[in-house]
Amino acid sequence: MTLASASGKAILFGEHAVVYGQPAIAVPLSHLRTTVQVESLDPGTTGVLLDAPDINQSYWLHEAAGDDPLASAVRLTLDELGVEAPVDIHLTIQSQLPIASGLGSSAAASVAVIRALSAHLAKPLEVETVSKIAYTIECIHHGTPSGIDNTVVAYEKPVYFIREHKPELIPISTSLNLIIGDTGVAMRTTIPVNLLCERWEKDPGTYGGWFEEIGEIVIKARTMLETGSIDSLGDLMDQNQTLLEDMGLSSFELQRLIRAARKAGALGAKLSGAGMGGIMLALVEPDTAKIVETALKKAGAKQVFITEVD
Ligand code: MEV
Repeated sequence: MTLASASGKAILFGEHAVVYGQPAIAVPLSHLRTTVQVESLDPGTTGVLLDAPDINQSYWLHEAAGDDPLASAVRLTLDELGVEAPVDIHLTIQSQLPIASGLGSSAAASVAVIRALSAHLAKPLEVETVSKIAYTIECIHHGTPSGIDNTVVAYEKPVYFIREHKPELIPISTSLNLIIGDTGVAMRTTIPVNLLCERWEKDPGTYGGWFEEIGEIVIKARTMLETGSIDSLGDLMDQNQTLLEDMGLSSFELQRLIRAARKAGALGAKLSGAGMGGIMLALVEPDTAKIVETALKKAGAKQVFITEVD
């Protein structure tokens, strides 16, 4: 039996604008993981069986649709590894990450499957290759991904990311205490991404200006993270949130949680990921974490995760 896993992720700054060439910063969430177990099938049984009990799915690879993300991860990995002989295995995929919530569940599932297969077949892959395969699968989920999700999940390090550039892994000089509140509203990435694209096409001047403002926030945030002087990092999160609101990417549920977090003493709060649902993220002092957690639950958060990034 082989076990492998991959972390979730949170975008600290720059989601959406990153699709339009601006930088963004994302961090891995190492405590929230997707795990894949690979076992050999019983003698006489052939094929690749995919089991995803969290979503009540169990199917054979040869029966899966061409664009099925888990099946694609298996097919692309076997191709990359040059495996031609049939493999007879049973993959079980389990995740702590809520689906379509901004926590990178799709990238984590892909990376965990790729890692598990390459480990099971004792054919190691470079991180860049893992990220590249996961990117191909992200393109199935939404047509124009920037590549930030597969990159931060594959490298499992904080990353400063510009589309089509080599990712820069950034050292974070001081640990960040983050609280994630899940609205419980699942939102497929394609919906906000496509909506924003339509709005940008109608008014490229205004939206392009907002993207640039976000890019400037990201550059300032990078300096703060690298130097460890994070006193104004929360303000930058609030500024980034205002721009995301201007672009129509927030929602009633997100606003309620963001307001509650700020009122309870968070240093800053914003949506994270595609928005219009999914999760929000707050930066807190360690001693206010519990107070903010309680406030988020009271304001309707379906799940709250407290995490430390360093
Ligand atoms: C999704 O996690 C982040 C977005 O910026 C889309 C992307 O970068 O591909 C909304």
